Amino acid sequence: MLMPGMLLGDVFPNFEADSTFGRMKLHDFLGDCWGVLFSHPGDFTPVCTTELGRAAQLSPEDSPQPQFNKRNVKLIALSVDSLEEHHDWSEDIMAYNNTEPESQFPFPIIADDRRELVEKLGMLDPEEKDRSGMPLSARCVFVIGPDKRLKLSILYPASTGRNFDEILRVIDSLQLTAHNRVATPVDWKAGDSVMVPPSIPEQDTLTLFPAGVYTKDLPSGKKYLRYTPQPNTHQH
Ligand code: BEZ
Repeated sequence: MLMPGMLLGDVFPNFEADSTFGRMKLHDFLGDCWGVLFSHPGDFTPVCTTELGRAAQLSPEDSPQPQFNKRNVKLIALSVDSLEEHHDWSEDIMAYNNTEPESQFPFPIIADDRRELVEKLGMLDPEEKDRSGMPLSARCVFVIGPDKRLKLSILYPASTGRNFDEILRVIDSLQLTAHNRVATPVDWKAGDSVMVPPSIPEQDTLTLFPAGVYTKDLPSGKKYLRYTPQPNTHQH
């Protein structure tokens, strides 16, 4: 469930919150970067630990796979526990990753122990309850653009862990389509051909896509399945 009334393209709320990196205001923290805000049902839980472990491997600049940094994306996790618990849990996550114990966890975890943000942003999973019967937070993924607008949201129930390869893949598509008039087809990955959107008239395709357009013939005779090589301009 998304925050009531929050649609793709809306400015993401500029909330203030306590995090393991200190008090933060969302828009200031993001600056000119893209952002991924992702929520968790709770600290010291198994699936969340594997998710944060994977996100931590993909984030720091000095990591062997700095996939988020190289896309100019800042990660922000959120869980409905206290700062103290987050700090202790971060140590477990780094141990799970076999990371040096003295290194800093690479991105902030928001402490939403009063559940203000999960309620405001519609992040609760009514189907999954904690031991006291309170609904758990779902596994939301919000991708926020440098213009602070919501570009994508994916919502998983607490019982299903996310796939960070998919999150990176959709960021590649969002960043490509933010700067180029193209769309990405099923299972697209960076480097594959892209599609010419239906809004572009046939007579404009040669100028807009100098690398060429291949149109697949279809029984309807309609020429809407149009492919072009991925444009090179991949600005963040
Ligand atoms: C987990 O992170 O392992 C988890 C949390 C809540 C419900 C189910 C799994």
